[in-house]
Formats: sequence, C-alpha cells, structure tokens
Amino acid sequence: MATIRFLGHAAFHVEGEGLKGLIDPFLTGNPQASEGAGNFTELDFIFLTHGHGDHLGDTVQIAKRTGATVVANFELCHYLERKGLKCHAMHIGGRRRFPFGRVKLTPAFHGSGILEGDRMIYGGLAGGFLIEVEGKNLYHAGDTGLTKEMELLAEEDVRIALLPIGGNFVMDEEDAARAVGMIRPEAVVPMHYDTFDLVKADAGRFADLVGDAARVVILQPGQELRF
Ligand code: NI
Ligand code: MN
Repeated sequence: MATIRFLGHAAFHVEGEGLKGLIDPFLTGNPQASEGAGNFTELDFIFLTHGHGDHLGDTVQIAKRTGATVVANFELCHYLERKGLKCHAMHIGGRRRFPFGRVKLTPAFHGSGILEGDRMIYGGLAGGFLIEVEGKNLYHAGDTGLTKEMELLAEEDVRIALLPIGGNFVMDEEDAARAVGMIRPEAVVPMHYDTFDLVKADAGRFADLVGDAARVVILQPGQELRF
C-alpha cells in the first residue's frame, strides 16, 4: 500500500515500495504545516514543481541534511546544484523510469521564478508530476490554471490527483472541478487553499461541483490517504 500525507498548502509526503519522497516541501513559514522540516530523516527524493517560495520552501535544507535527490526542471536543477544539492533534471513531457517507478514532468500554466533577496532568478517552466508508486499513478498538478493538456492525463490512469483550488494564482473550485472531468482520476485531493487570504476556497463546494466524477478526499494537514 502506498501512502500520501498532506503537510499543508501543496506539500505532501509520499511513501511506497522503494520510495520515500516529498513534493513541494514548504514547511517553514507555512501556517498550515503539520510538521517541521526537521521531521524528515530518511528521504530518497524531493519533487519540486516550480521555483516559487511556497513550493521550493525547505528543499535546500532538507535535501542537504538527508541527501535526497531533487527532481525538478533543468533550470531549477542548475540553481540547486550550485547550492550543493544532488539533482535529477527533467523537462515538460519527459518521462523516466526511476527504481520505484516512472515519473513524468507534466505541463502547468504558471511561473517558476526564484526570489532571492530582491532578485528574481529564472526558474524555467512550472510543471506538475505524474509519479508511479507501486504501479499506481499519483498526479500533483503543481500550481496551474486550467489547461486543455489535462485531457491527456485521462489516458494515464490517475489513481489520485492533487489539484489546487485556491484561485487567484491557480485554479478555483470551478476550474479544478472541470480539471477533474478532464483527468478522470479515481480520487481527488484539493490543495493550495486557505493557507493565505488570497487563496481562500471552499473545499466542500469543490466536492459538490465534482459530484460523481471522482471520489473527493479532503485532507487536513497531517492526514494520510492510502492508495
Ligand atoms: Ni506558484
Ligand atoms: Mn503556490
């Protein structure tokens, strides 16, 4: 059985055969964070969807301490390698087999700049991840608006889709529900909402809009879902 644990905002811990991973580990400064960056001692991979602070988060600190390999786009990897991290660079549409299963970097409509002091460093294109764990596909959309490309995911047999619903920077409840119609996952977990005033959303309303299209699982930070 594979497990994902919601850590707040867009951060998840994913565990399955051959994989202990984090996705977008923004914990320090995350008002929703269910645990601290220091909690993770054994870690194989950190999957990073884009360079914004609420996703890059504690990546550098956690990867340095645990020796985890960061999987991200080429530009983010270039930046992180210069900070001394071990990285595996991919790019949009690219798929690769890792020891635990296959990973594909999926498109997202969003930015990826890295804010360092008052400088904005180019972070390539924002993306999402399709991660195969124990033969089952987990999709983390990253930050994105609704895109027609999501229709392609209907052919990927997505078991769980992690979709942003907070609006303003990403899809709102309506658009995320439309995304569910395109992706056709077995279950969907809303994320990236209620962390800050700008991304307030109603997960119950999202569930109503999804209706019978998928099983909606609303996770509180710290809660797990097995799949
Ligand atoms: Ni972002
Ligand atoms: Mn974000």
